[in-house]
This record gives sequence, C-alpha cells and structure tokens, in this order.
Amino acid sequence: MTTIQPVPRLRVPAALHGRRLRRTPALRALVRETRLSARQLVQPVFVCEGRDVREEIGAMPGQHRVSVDRLPGLAAELEVAGIGGVLLFGVADAKDAVGSGAWADDGLVQRAVAAIRRSSSDLVVIADVCLCEYTSHGHCGVLADDVVGGPRVDHGASLELLTRAAVSLARAGADLVAPSAMMDGQVAAIRAGLDDDGLGETAILAYAAKHASAFYGPFREAAGSAPAFGDRRSYQMDPANGREAVRELLADVAEGADIVMIKPAMPALDLVARARELLDTPVAAYQVSGEYAALCAAAERGWLDRRAAALEALTAIARAGAGIIVTYFAAEATAWLDDAR
Ligand code: PBG
Repeated sequence: MTTIQPVPRLRVPAALHGRRLRRTPALRALVRETRLSARQLVQPVFVCEGRDVREEIGAMPGQHRVSVDRLPGLAAELEVAGIGGVLLFGVADAKDAVGSGAWADDGLVQRAVAAIRRSSSDLVVIADVCLCEYTSHGHCGVLADDVVGGPRVDHGASLELLTRAAVSLARAGADLVAPSAMMDGQVAAIRAGLDDDGLGETAILAYAAKHASAFYGPFREAAGSAPAFGDRRSYQMDPANGREAVRELLADVAEGADIVMIKPAMPALDLVARARELLDTPVAAYQVSGEYAALCAAAERGWLDRRAAALEALTAIARAGAGIIVTYFAAEATAWLDDAR
C-alpha cells in the first residue's frame, strides 16, 4: 500500500486571476466578449423546380432543396425566428453553355425572390450570383475557346452575363446580390449595371476572398454544380495566399462592394481577422457545406456534440471578426441562442 502524500500548494501569483471571472455561469456571461445573435446568421436555401418539394440533401443532413411555392412559408418561419437573412441558390434542371438560367427574368431564383417579396416578408433576401449552377460544363463563367491546358474562363465575357443575372435578381426584389464567381471586375460591372438600371439601392455582398477549397464538395452535390472537367483553380484563390487575399478584399471594396465575404470560414479565420482590421465595411464569413458536413458526420458517430461544436465554431468565426455568418446551422442555431451557454 502506498500512501498518497499531500501535494504541496504553491501560492498562485497575484496576476493569475482568470478563475475569479470564470466561477459561475452568470459571471462568465457577464464578461463574455463574443455574443452570437440570430440576427447575424444567414441561412443558405437551395431552390428547385416542382411543386410542394422539400427533399433532403444527401451530403448535408438537415438541409433541403425546396420548391418556389414553399418559400413564402419557409421565409415566414425564419423571420419569426429572428434570423438575419437567407441566401438563395438555384438547383437548375436546364443547363447550357452560357448559363441562361442564371440571368433569365423568369429564372428559378428570380421567381423565388419574387415569391418571398409577394408574401410581404421583411426577411433580408440575398441572391447568389454565379453561372455554375446553370452551365452545362459547371464552371462559374463562360469558357474561352482555347481550353488547351485546362478550362479557361473568359472573365470579360462572363461579366456581361453576371451583370444581367444580378440586375434580374435585384429587379425581382433581392436586398443584396452576392457575386460568387470570382471573375475579375465582377463587383464593378455589377455595380454599374445596377445603377444604370435604376437599382442604386440594391447592395452588393462580394465573395471577395474565395478559396479554391476542398470544402465545397457537398454543395456541389446539392446544387449539381460540380465542374464537368478541370477545376476552379484558375479563377478561385489559392488557399495558400494570405497577402493576395488582402488585395482581393481591397479590390472589391474599391469596386463598390458594400459587404465583403471570406469563404470558407474556419480554414480562413486569419483572413477574417485581417479583413476586420483593415476594412470599415461589414465583414461576412461563409461556413461552407464541407465544414457543416464534417461536423454533422462526426456528431452522427457520437464523436462530437453537435450543438456544442457548432456553437463553438460559430463563436470562433464571430470572434475572428465576422459580423455576418452564412451557415447551414443558422435556422437550427437560432433556437439555441437564447440559452446558449
Ligand atoms: C457558386 C458557389 C459555390 C459555393 C457558394 N457559391 C460553389 C463553388 O464555388 O464551387 C459553395 C458553398 C458551400 O460549399 O457551402 N460559385
């Protein structure tokens, strides 16, 4: 039998006082630096054709493709829950080389925005502006003829179509248009297009620093937008480049972006922090499909506590400097926030 000797207690230096303010839940709540609010969360919504459709997305448990007729009901629920807004994506059936569905006046998302507006919802409606959900090749812009050495998008030709898309979505009633194609000059082109069309009040949320990320996989399944060949590295950013990300952010602000977004979120928290430091515009971060799916999968296996892990991730994104967080947890998290920790 070994007897355990009492451990000698050293005096805690006076400067070490962390525990005093961690003692009770009320004290911890009083001194908490980062508070999440439903108002800052944006829920992405996938809109599909058909009537009365609400089908779950395989790689994104808890997320659905929803038909246009069901959107007013969904918008009303989210508005009552006090959510910050919705970001709409189209899941198009018909695709072609120039992504006509993205800029048709009666396109899927145009109809979706109009349906929400007709229901007189005050919810903030954000419309994603890109061609990839509507192009037969799955790339975010028009392809140049010369595709030797991999797909090359024609940035200049794509600007015209992205601008048409943005204008038609703004006419339908979107509060914000969100260009995500990573075409050079897209923010300036869209700003000019909106202004010329008398849509000077429509704001632009620019996906400014958007990585060519491995974390978009589940989204591409959800939206059927995986590139048919090649990848997006010739237009989306190399995740290795932090200084270049700053240049992208500054360029989008100079071109007229009202809000800039970093994407993905957790793999780019350093960029969120730099954007917050350098810019005076609101900063958004997009916790993307792969970040969501990874947390869901680990929680399903019992390896993570879903709610605790999701809240910690969202808190970290806010702490890094994002005032706005686009997240597939948005609708679910609004129900958690009243009593969050
Ligand atoms: C469209 C777009 C994508 C995402 C948002 N807008 C896909 C892509 O760039 O491949 C990804 C969002 C997510 O993964 O949740 N360009």
